[in-house]
Amino acid sequence: MDHWSKSWFLPLFFLIHFSFGSRFSKAADTLYPGQSLSGNQTIVSQGGIFELGFFTPGNISKNFYIGIWYKQIPVRAVVWIANRDHPISETGASELKISEDGNLVLTQSKIQVWSSNVTTTTSSSTVAVLLDTGNLVLRNSSNSSAALWQSFDHPTDTWLPNQKLGLNRITGKNQLVTSWRNLEDPSTGLFSEGIDPKGTDQYFLWRNGTEYWTTGLWNGKIFANIPDMSSGNYLSYVHVSNERENYFTYTFRDTSTISRLVMDVTGQAKILKWIESSQKWLWVCLLPSDPCSVPSLCGAFGSCSLETVPFCSCLEGFKPQSSTDWNLSDWSGGCVRRTPLQCFNSSVNTEKDVFLTISDVHLPTNSQNLEVGTAEECESACLKSCFCTAYSYSSTCLIWNGDLYDLKKLSNGPSNRDSGVLYLRLAASDLPSKHGQTVHRSIMIIIGAVAGSAFCLLAAVALIWKFQSRHPIGLSEEIKGSLVLFRYKNLVKATNNFSEKLGAGSFGTVYKGTLCDSTLVAVKRLGRTGQGEKQFRAEVSTIGQVRHVNLVGLRGFCFEGSERLLVYDYMPNGSLGSQLFQKKSKILDWTTRFQIALGTARGLAYLHGHCRDCIIHCDIKPENILLDSEFSPKVADFGMAKLIGREFSRVLTTMRGTLGYLAPEWISGLAITPKADVYSYGMMLLEIISGRRNAEVSEDGDISFFPLWAASKVKEDKILSLLDYRLEGKANVDELRRACRVAVWCIQGEESHRPTMSLVVQILEGVSEVNMPPIPKQLYSLVENQEDMLSSTATFGGQT
Ligand SMILES: *[C@@H]1O[C@H](CO)[C@@H](O)[C@H](O)[C@H]1NC(C)=O
Ligand SMILES: *[C@@H]1O[C@H](CO)[C@@H](O)[C@H](O)[C@H]1NC(C)=O
Ligand SMILES: *[C@@H]1O[C@H](CO)[C@@H](O)[C@H](O)[C@H]1NC(C)=O
Ligand SMILES: *[C@@H]1O[C@H](CO)[C@@H](O)[C@H](O)[C@H]1NC(C)=O
Ligand SMILES: *[C@@H]1O[C@H](CO)[C@@H](O)[C@H](O)[C@H]1NC(C)=O
Ligand SMILES: *[C@@H]1O[C@H](CO)[C@@H](O)[C@H](O)[C@H]1NC(C)=O
Ligand SMILES: *[C@@H]1O[C@H](CO)[C@@H](O)[C@H](O)[C@H]1NC(C)=O
Ligand SMILES: *[C@@H]1O[C@H](CO)[C@@H](O)[C@H](O)[C@H]1NC(C)=O
Repeated sequence: MDHWSKSWFLPLFFLIHFSFGSRFSKAADTLYPGQSLSGNQTIVSQGGIFELGFFTPGNISKNFYIGIWYKQIPVRAVVWIANRDHPISETGASELKISEDGNLVLTQSKIQVWSSNVTTTTSSSTVAVLLDTGNLVLRNSSNSSAALWQSFDHPTDTWLPNQKLGLNRITGKNQLVTSWRNLEDPSTGLFSEGIDPKGTDQYFLWRNGTEYWTTGLWNGKIFANIPDMSSGNYLSYVHVSNERENYFTYTFRDTSTISRLVMDVTGQAKILKWIESSQKWLWVCLLPSDPCSVPSLCGAFGSCSLETVPFCSCLEGFKPQSSTDWNLSDWSGGCVRRTPLQCFNSSVNTEKDVFLTISDVHLPTNSQNLEVGTAEECESACLKSCFCTAYSYSSTCLIWNGDLYDLKKLSNGPSNRDSGVLYLRLAASDLPSKHGQTVHRSIMIIIGAVAGSAFCLLAAVALIWKFQSRHPIGLSEEIKGSLVLFRYKNLVKATNNFSEKLGAGSFGTVYKGTLCDSTLVAVKRLGRTGQGEKQFRAEVSTIGQVRHVNLVGLRGFCFEGSERLLVYDYMPNGSLGSQLFQKKSKILDWTTRFQIALGTARGLAYLHGHCRDCIIHCDIKPENILLDSEFSPKVADFGMAKLIGREFSRVLTTMRGTLGYLAPEWISGLAITPKADVYSYGMMLLEIISGRRNAEVSEDGDISFFPLWAASKVKEDKILSLLDYRLEGKANVDELRRACRVAVWCIQGEESHRPTMSLVVQILEGVSEVNMPPIPKQLYSLVENQEDMLSSTATFGGQT
């Protein structure tokens, strides 16, 4: 059963070897009977790619292991370990050799520590060979095609290209890659990845045997939950399923890079890629993308947050159970109280236990429901039981007994519906002085506090609304770091009765204004139709919640009677559309254009992925990218934006947005994902590069459609011909090539072929490579339906 015939490897080996240059190592690749490895001796695969020998992991460990690593990469990445659960204490008296029964064995002071345990070997004619794939093969010296044993059948935490990972349907044996216990200890950890042992074509992730994530079923091209894989930048799979086995192998499409898949101590499967220029391993894919979704990652009384490094921290009043493990990224031991609860100590009655308020958290699930009427009763019910560790009250009373798991902090993003306030029981001495026990908040503070929460904010708006219609009161003071509720009459004054118009769109008109502290603002006055109302809500619930240097800042809003106004930071350089397409004396130079493209991509990547809920902008075009005084871009106009929870990867939305930038799946009425924004971004990027509109009607009525022509030029690598002629060829060719290629990837018709915005950022930054994109086929049909496409370029113009 030898899947690893030489011819299979040759192309890959050749490429990898090529990328390393020709530094052949003289070391042998084979261990013969009678030979042994000890101390710092190693064997090196024929092409000098992998090396096998003794090593010590990390910085403080004193244990030794037999492992395989990349010979040429200075940041040692161990891809296989023989004795992960049986470390040896020193290498001097230890040997790796072929034993008399033909097995590969590791001994310390002549005592066997590890063995390949093959029973079919009959003589001492076996040899161990390290191949350029990273596979260590034990075979009959007179028959090189028969592997008696191979390391690829016994993976550690790494799944290498061309290595199969799957199920033997006859023996039922399922190969797993299993994480290290912590960063310094390679022994078998908690997290594993493997194919479905029941025989379906999907991989699962397990924590200590319990499944928590799946790749989704293989459809012949991709796994349902990893659409990015087919974007042309990462992996291509080979699937083999027959009555004997079911497995996949993969290769990287870009065979010149060195990459591997590792089951990480965070419970995420990571696809890592070696970046030669920065001498670093960079991850290109994390599965699942949110480490806080890994069950019990932070252990008891730990709290997970994407915004901290590391993700796990102990709740206040708690400390890591083992600070050594904690520092090495093994958080499974969780946290313990600094001070025991007084409840258990009858001799102390002076200080009762108290509750710490933790807001914006995802509540742990293992709660009990109590039938009590008020928050006070809920609190005292918890205090009465020494086992109660926390409670939460919002119309019903929930209490938790024992350890708390899976607490997630939702500090800086729109929170989702299962967020809440948790009251954590602590000994009084552990209560931080800055926290009060109960806080009564005024309406004004509610506005401030919920600036991080879309759903709550809308509720608050509705609340004030009701309140205000009965008691018209004036609220317009600024609350730091949150949205301001402006009074209509103040905005009339600020805009000098709406005299200086900056732009107009289908939903409203934008005016320049000056606040009393003389800051300039842009005030959007929405139409009084139902659409205006919808846009108002969409803006407040999306851009009102997020802060990013590349997203326009919403300062506040106003609703009085039927007036709906939104107040933004003023952008002195207007829109990218006006800079690119209007006749100006000064045109944007290449550096500025590239920074605008990169900044916009960062803003969108943030919207799509960095906050708890994903926001799809739905209307990316040059008119909606505003430029500040430094020409730094700000994504604006969230009137179309859709907020979708993490659970929903797609959202059905009525067809809106601006044609010409609209993704084909949207035009055909299908549900959309953030990839619709990627498409619009790609179209816009072509316009940034060329300085012209993608679709133009010439004076004699001919319609020209730039993207199709552009895609073919990119394919011929004639990228300079795409550059705005006014720049006279003055551009960084490397940046231009990246931008052109990524733009064409973004406008692929098949959404799974488009990169994510974060990958776009990486490509533009130069940390990810980008392949030659194919010509998007749907563009041909678009060209045939030019009229539909053109009827659309209705734009907002100026600042919207
Ligand atoms: C290996 O160990 C020997 C003896 O301890 C030492 O002389 C030699 O320099 C070492 N070689 C390398 C490459 O570290
Ligand atoms: C070992 O030390 C290096 C340099 O101080 C550090 O970058 C690295 O993260 C450490 N490794 C571990 C596993 O702590
Ligand atoms: C080899 O077999 C021995 C005895 O059956 C067992 O104790 C040991 O764990 C096995 N080693 C491996 C690496 O499977
Ligand atoms: C190795 O192969 C030779 C020739 O095929 C055979 O005679 C011998 O028994 C084999 N040895 C082992 C250990 O399988
Ligand atoms: C080598 O091993 C393969 C697979 O076990 C077998 O098919 C082949 O006949 C063997 N060749 C020799 C020369 O024994
Ligand atoms: C893993 O599972 C075993 C047996 O099911 C259990 O004893 C052990 O405590 C679990 N470990 C962790 C860290 O959950
Ligand atoms: C863990 O890290 C913290 C902060 O870096 C340090 O204070 C502590 O001493 C470390 N603990 C151990 C056991 O290394
Ligand atoms: C009870 O309180 C006393 C006095 O504070 C302290 O010495 C003792 O350790 C406490 N016992 C427990 C079980 O917490």
